[in-house]
Amino acid sequence: MIEPEKIRVLGIETSCDETAAAIVERDATGRAEILSNVVRSQIEEHKDFGGVVPEIAARAHIEILDTLIAQAMSEAGLSFDRLDAVAVTAGPGLVGGLMVGLMTAKAICYAHDLPLLGINHLEGHALTPGLTDNVLPPYLLLLVSGGHTQMQIVQAVGSYRRVGTTVDDALGEAFDKVAKLMGLGYPGGPQVASWAKRGDDRRFDFPRPMKGRDELNFSFSGLKTAVRQRAMRLAPLSGRDIADLCASFERAACEAVADRVGRAMEQYAGLMGSSGPALRLVVAGGVAANRRLRAALAGLAKEKGFVLDVPPVELCTDNAAMIAWAGVEHLLLGRRDGLDLPARARWPLDEKAGALASYGKKGMKA
Ligand code: KG4
Ligand code: ZN
Repeated sequence: MIEPEKIRVLGIETSCDETAAAIVERDATGRAEILSNVVRSQIEEHKDFGGVVPEIAARAHIEILDTLIAQAMSEAGLSFDRLDAVAVTAGPGLVGGLMVGLMTAKAICYAHDLPLLGINHLEGHALTPGLTDNVLPPYLLLLVSGGHTQMQIVQAVGSYRRVGTTVDDALGEAFDKVAKLMGLGYPGGPQVASWAKRGDDRRFDFPRPMKGRDELNFSFSGLKTAVRQRAMRLAPLSGRDIADLCASFERAACEAVADRVGRAMEQYAGLMGSSGPALRLVVAGGVAANRRLRAALAGLAKEKGFVLDVPPVELCTDNAAMIAWAGVEHLLLGRRDGLDLPARARWPLDEKAGALASYGKKGMKA
């Protein structure tokens, strides 16, 4: 274990369609400060294909990563010798992109004699409340992004128990597919959310998959198919139809999520007992930007006596500050990786829950 005055870690993230570099500093009291946080999205590169193309993603990471790292270092006003470690996403994700990040991190570590830490991308999301609000485990985590939809009990740094995951599409993926079938552009989540604001969320009664079940898994592909079938029957779609389909889909999806999370909260509260620390729900991932979902979860937290913690949107979506922070935590635990560290396309946060993992368009979900 090391506990110096200040720890500074460079984080690198290239697991999907964002290239990111950031420097995070932790002071002796445990508080985090983001010294720089640079993110470049590849939306333009993938837009015409309606989704992320792995080969294009890897090439785009190669082209920009060096420049982003230089920018992050210069914004933080640091040279490499002032760093304590380099933390890099080693999985799960698209393997070409992961390899770009890993090779770069290894080169920096080798050249400047720094420790290398391979970070699980999901752990970056899971530990973000420590970075943003100094909130430490335990808490219940809902991770909802384009590639992942799962609930984890975050017991401590390095100790996670997955209690639910999607059996088919991730929530963001469902938003993206619904947008695509209506020709709304990519990424679809923000488009669907914006059309939904103008729509009637009760015009169509779509299914709430898994509602009422005891086990805590999610499913969104049946809901997406129901939207597709209704859209095909209505075609050609008017502006009103699109808005109503988006609103009714969004409502059904959020109610389905709230049902699963409500059930998880009850089980988590039973597990923690009444004398433990405050019950907390943390929400992370790009879909945490959705207003209806936030409102539903805020209502649920109030009803069940939970404190709700949603990091700011720019730290809910993919970024390297969360990877740097997870690196800080692992450095404190004395972990180091070798320069032969491999990329892992599939890497469940809770290794024992591997059998539940499923495969999606953006790669392995865990
Ligand atoms: O975490 P993220 O930035 O990237 C990964 O997928 O890893 O999440 C992106 C996902 C996309 O599927 C996007 O459509 C969705 O989050 N998203 C939203 C909203 N903003 C982003 N979904 C619904 N409503 C939103 N406002
Ligand atoms: Zn992510």
